[in-house]
Amino acid sequence: MPATTDKLIIFDTTLRDGEQSPGVTLNTEEKIDIAKQLSRLGVDVLEAGFPVASIGDFEAVQRIAREVGPLMVGREAIGVPMTICGLARSTPNDIKRCAEAIKDAPRKRIHIFLATSDLHLKYKLKIDRDECVKRAVAAVTLGRSLVDEIEFSPEDAGRSDPDFLCKVLGKVIEAGATTLNIPDTVGYNTPEEYGSLIKYLIANTPGAEKAIFSTHCHNDLGLATANTLAGIQNGARQVEVTINGIGERAGNTAMEEVVMAIHTHPSYYPVHHTITTQLIFRTSQMVSNLSGMMIQPNKAIVGRNAFLHESGIHQDGVLKNRQTYEIITPETVGVTDISLVLGKHSGRNAFRERCKELGFSDIPEDEFQKAFEDFKALCDKKKNVNDADILAILSSQLQES
Ligand code: KIV
Ligand code: ZN
Repeated sequence: MPATTDKLIIFDTTLRDGEQSPGVTLNTEEKIDIAKQLSRLGVDVLEAGFPVASIGDFEAVQRIAREVGPLMVGREAIGVPMTICGLARSTPNDIKRCAEAIKDAPRKRIHIFLATSDLHLKYKLKIDRDECVKRAVAAVTLGRSLVDEIEFSPEDAGRSDPDFLCKVLGKVIEAGATTLNIPDTVGYNTPEEYGSLIKYLIANTPGAEKAIFSTHCHNDLGLATANTLAGIQNGARQVEVTINGIGERAGNTAMEEVVMAIHTHPSYYPVHHTITTQLIFRTSQMVSNLSGMMIQPNKAIVGRNAFLHESGIHQDGVLKNRQTYEIITPETVGVTDISLVLGKHSGRNAFRERCKELGFSDIPEDEFQKAFEDFKALCDKKKNVNDADILAILSSQLQES
C-alpha cells in the first residue's frame, strides 16, 4: 500500500440503499451473511439499514452490530473491525432508535440526512432554509451526544444551491459531524458538474479541513461511477457504493467498478483502499443470488460476459497475449473458470486451442480443417457452440478417418 496516497474509505450501502431496489427484500439471516462477506471483502463502513423503518430493519441492524460488528476474520491486515452505520432522518426519534440499534458494535456511526434543495424544502418538507439549518444542527448535536461518529447528508445536494450547502455543512461540522456526504439523490449530475461541486464545497465550507467529504451517486443517467471518480479526483475521500450497483431506480454506484477503475489508473486516483479484489466476484454472486437481482451479462467487472472474448480476432490476440484485449485479468477479481466462448466469430486458433483442451492435440491438418468447417457450419445454426458439440464433431471426424 503506497504510503504517499490518501486512504479512500469504502462505505457500503448494499443493505440500505441497495435493499431499496424495487423487488429486493432480504431477510435478517441473508443480511447477516452479506454483512459478513462485506467485512471479509474489506469494507470500512457498512450501512446496515434504516432502523426506524420497521421492527425487522431495527432487528437486522441490531444483529449485524452485535454479530458482525466485532468480527476480524479476513481483516487482520486492516487491523480494525468494520464500522456499523445506521440511517436516520433529522428527527429525535429516528436518531435515538438508530443509536439503540447500533450500540453493540465496537465501531459505530449514525448517518443523518436532511434535504437541502429548494425543491425538497418547498414541496416535501414545507420549511425554509433557516429552518433547515436549525433542524440539521439540532439533529447532529443530538446524534453526537449518543455516538462518536456522525455523518451528515444534505439530501438532493446535486440540485441544491452550493452556497447554501456550504452554510449547512459548516454548521453541522461545528455541531460535531465528521463525514459530509454529498448525495446526487436523483442521479442528475454529470461528472464535470459533480466534481466541481465537491471541489467548491471543500474550498468554501467553513471548517472543511475537519471533515471527510464523501460521494453518493445514483445511476439515473448511467453516470454514477463516473461521478464518483470525479468526486475522488476533486478531494472526496469516502465513496458510498453498493455491490453490483443495486439501489433505488437505476441503482447506486457499483463498488466493483470504482475499485477496479482505481486499480487500473493509480496515477489518476492517488488513493488506496482495503478491498480484497479477489473476493469481488464471489461477493457479487452472493448478493445477486440472495437479493434476486440478476446481473446483466455485459455488466462491467462482474457480468457473465465481462471476460469472454467471442470474435476471432480478439480470441487470437488473447491466446497470444491476454493484455491485447484484457485490461484486468479475471483472477484479479476472483473469476477463475473463464474460457473462450466459441461462436461464429471464432477463428481457427481459438478452435484449435479448445480441441487441445478437450484432449485432441495432434489432429492431422486435413482432419482439423474438416472439423473446423463442420464447427463453422454448426455456428450458423447455434449462437454458442459448447464442448459437447465440439466433442461430437471431433468424434464423427475420427470415426470417418
Ligand atoms: O440518495 C440519497 O440521497 C440517500 C440519502 C439518504 C443519503 O440515499
Ligand atoms: Zn441514495
